Amino acid sequence: MLTIDISKKLESKLDEKIFSKSRKKQLPDGFKKGKVVNEVLDKPTVMTLYKMITDHIIAYVNGAVSAGKESVLFWGVDENKKDVALKIYLVTTASFKKREQYILGDPRFSKLKKGTKNLIYLWAKKEFRNLSQCYDCKIPVPKPIHVVNNVLAMEFVGENGSPAKQLLESEIDEQDYDQAIEILKDLYKKANLVHGDYSEYNIFKTETGLILFDLGSAIDTRHPNTEEFLKRDINNITRFFSKRGIKVNDPEDVFQEIIS
Ligand SMILES: Nc1ncnc2c1ncn2[C@@H]1O[C@H](COP(=O)(O)OP(=O)(O)OP(=O)(O)O)[C@@H](O)[C@H]1O
Ligand SMILES: [Mg+2]
Repeated sequence: MLTIDISKKLESKLDEKIFSKSRKKQLPDGFKKGKVVNEVLDKPTVMTLYKMITDHIIAYVNGAVSAGKESVLFWGVDENKKDVALKIYLVTTASFKKREQYILGDPRFSKLKKGTKNLIYLWAKKEFRNLSQCYDCKIPVPKPIHVVNNVLAMEFVGENGSPAKQLLESEIDEQDYDQAIEILKDLYKKANLVHGDYSEYNIFKTETGLILFDLGSAIDTRHPNTEEFLKRDINNITRFFSKRGIKVNDPEDVFQEIIS
């Protein structure tokens, strides 16, 4: 009994420390603070956020910004009042099988520990590493900041807790198509990566151009399925631009140019 009591107290103390009270009103509809903490974040994740505070990566968390199937994006703020995007991979809802193909076969992650939780932690690390490889090659991605367990901290793309518009929601032109193909090429040739989920949903359009995100599934070009994934990425993005009436090149020619 006593231990439960202590852990409950610790939990509410952490809640107080991690989640800002003053900004509660700014949370998007449907994200009440209590609900977020109790139903989305399990205790180990709350502890991980707390560690990010004691490690001075963030100062506090404002709340959830968007909820995907397998991750929730939180809006954090650092000690210089700069916004930080916190991508929190959900351990409970993880579809383990779907992910395996993007890790097995990637020589950077040959030692795979068994268990869903370990795979999720590795997945977060993998996204961090993919972002770093891109960032180092000057490919436009959110700047990676830190990763602990299932929490990935990166540059927040957007303002006041609202993410920038995805390509899907933006007006687009030929220049965007050219940049989208240029990014695919640089990913392959400079960062030695294939995105694996390249689409209008995973690219922001900002005033300074396109910014690629959601790099969890990106694989090393030595992975045996590289060509298949690259072809799929090219087809998806080509279809999107073509549907919007933009002149596109033959996907097969784009593929040959990228791998040559
Ligand atoms: N660095 C960032 N800055 C601001 N917003 C972000 C950032 N990264 C992601 N987001 C927001 O969070 C959403 C989900 O991110 P992401 O696509 O990486 O996760 P996901 O688990 O693949 O989610 P989904 O299943 O919806 O694709 C994005 O659509 C975007 O609005
Ligand atoms: Mg996504």
